[in-house]
Amino acid sequence: MGVRRGALIVLEGVDRAGKTTQCKRLVQALRDSGKEAEMMRFPDRTTMIGQLISSYLEKKSNLEDHTVHLLFSANRWEQVPLMKKKLEQGISLVVDRYAFSGVAFTSAKPVNPAEVAGRGGFGDERYETSVFQRAVQQKFEQLIKDPSVNWKVIDAARSIEDVHTEIKTLSENAINIAENQPIGELWK
Ligand code: TMP
Repeated sequence: MGVRRGALIVLEGVDRAGKTTQCKRLVQALRDSGKEAEMMRFPDRTTMIGQLISSYLEKKSNLEDHTVHLLFSANRWEQVPLMKKKLEQGISLVVDRYAFSGVAFTSAKPVNPAEVAGRGGFGDERYETSVFQRAVQQKFEQLIKDPSVNWKVIDAARSIEDVHTEIKTLSENAINIAENQPIGELWK
């Protein structure tokens, strides 16, 4: 019998929801229980495309909206061959944001841009305003209605430990199910 493939586990949500902390905890917990797991994040700011995105997010450069959307997309596509290889090798990938952020953030942009610009932020990067994040949240709520994607909604307003326990249980289930399924494609 061949190697059992890994699962693609994506944590999505608004900025500052605790995704990065939870991704790190999850990878550690999976490894501790003998599973192969690695963390990835998007945007991946280490590549040339990622550096263009990073400069845009830090407001050091301006980019036209369609252009930056395509850069975020290209930044994921450039990692797809590597991601497929790792999944085939039986490594589960715990990913801090993926294509759902691409859809949610870009489509939130037409929502009241003037209002967004006028409000104070809770961080220094582009998009880090509560008005914009509320629009992103609404977009995520629309996206989770898609039955072709196996979404689980996690209440992040609890302790790090409680959130972690729930994510770990769900992820272990997902890994067990994925093992017996071929690698598919999103939104197909
Ligand atoms: P980060 O804080 O997780 O590094 O993400 C940086 C910002 O980029 C965050 O505000 C979400 C946004 N983003 C997009 O607008 N489109 C995308 O495709 C992704 C992956 C992130």
